[in-house]
Amino acid sequence: MTSDTSLPLILCIVGARPNFMKIAPILSALRAKHSGLRAQLVHTGQHYDEAMYQQLFSDLGIPPPDIDLEVGSGTHAVQTARIMERFEPILDASKPSAILVVGDVNSTIACALVAVKKQIPVIHVEAGLRSFDRAMPEEINRILTDQISDFLFTTELQAKDNLIREGIDGEKIHFVGNVMIDTLHQNLSRAIPAATTFSRNGLSAVFSGDPQSFGVLTLHRPSNVDDPAILRNLLETLEEVSRQIPLAFPLHPRTRQKIHEFQLTDFLNLPTLAILPPLGYLPLLGLMKDARLFLTDSGGIQEETTALGIPCVTLRENTERPITVDQGSNTIVGQDRTRILNTVQNILDGHGKAGRIPDFWDGQAARRIVAQLRAVFNPHFVAPGI
Ligand code: UD1
Repeated sequence: MTSDTSLPLILCIVGARPNFMKIAPILSALRAKHSGLRAQLVHTGQHYDEAMYQQLFSDLGIPPPDIDLEVGSGTHAVQTARIMERFEPILDASKPSAILVVGDVNSTIACALVAVKKQIPVIHVEAGLRSFDRAMPEEINRILTDQISDFLFTTELQAKDNLIREGIDGEKIHFVGNVMIDTLHQNLSRAIPAATTFSRNGLSAVFSGDPQSFGVLTLHRPSNVDDPAILRNLLETLEEVSRQIPLAFPLHPRTRQKIHEFQLTDFLNLPTLAILPPLGYLPLLGLMKDARLFLTDSGGIQEETTALGIPCVTLRENTERPITVDQGSNTIVGQDRTRILNTVQNILDGHGKAGRIPDFWDGQAARRIVAQLRAVFNPHFVAPGI
């Protein structure tokens, strides 16, 4: 790590769980010897639970943040406003050359908005993804963040078309690949075996952890969990799936709350639909890599399963990551019982998509980003000894 304060400072922002996997390789490339740049990490505190934050930092080897804004939960308006209010003085004090935001969570747009009004350049990593569904809060965050960003780093080529259509100057757009897959490459050999996770959670009777003998499920999107009838239907269908192949279900705190609120707690005690606490990165990776299939409404998991060639069944009507369907192992099924059951059956019959790995999902995306940033913010930098 460098502490040479004469180097241009890039202030890196994270807030919620999916941000952490994206920032880890960028931070480490920025802090590498002779990067020609310097980085500080701000955590907004959008996610704060041990399982949603500290455990992931530790699994991913991210050092504690330089600044924690501790905003916590709230409505979208309250959370976004609180982040902006607390981020402004940090920006005034640290005077970075640029801020770097990742993904599409409330922390992403909130910090980008504060910076752009102070004419501090905004770097957006994972720009240009579009679900074309404005009912999704993340879609609003993506569109707005891209509009006010100066450097837009993309993970797939179609993202550039989306950005150009929205009037963004092509010169600002750089196709660098997928930093989340950098993290996957770096950690695959450290993944915690599925059998260990199952035995730690008292599930060994049903879940041996043998490769291909189980599936994994995650659910947390408001469109799936905030409506009692939809959540009940989904859980009933997934319970039906779990009678064909047992499903491990690490439960997001938001989904747990909704299950209690809607009195669906019978679904918390089923032998084949086994509830786990939210998992760290290494245990989840261990489950993912040996799963027969993954059912999810997460964005990142669609990409990670594509990188691993594991069939993914996406419980949403659309995806902002179309490459995972066109080239990868992903199938979009929405909330429809028959579609879910048929797709799962197809996979269990041996016809799951294996897909191929998209271009530049090669573990080198963060290195490409830092090379571009160095060329802009420290163009005359020459590493000692070169
Ligand atoms: C956020 C992101 C979403 C991302 C998800 C991953 C936005 C708009 N959404 O959604 O894109 O896929 O993170 O997890 O930014 N909670 C806890 N402990 C925590 C964090 C949250 O108990 O550490 C509970 C709170 O009751 C909170 C609820 O979960 O109200 C939702 O948290 P929030 O950060 O608002 O959104 P997520 O659903 O996690």
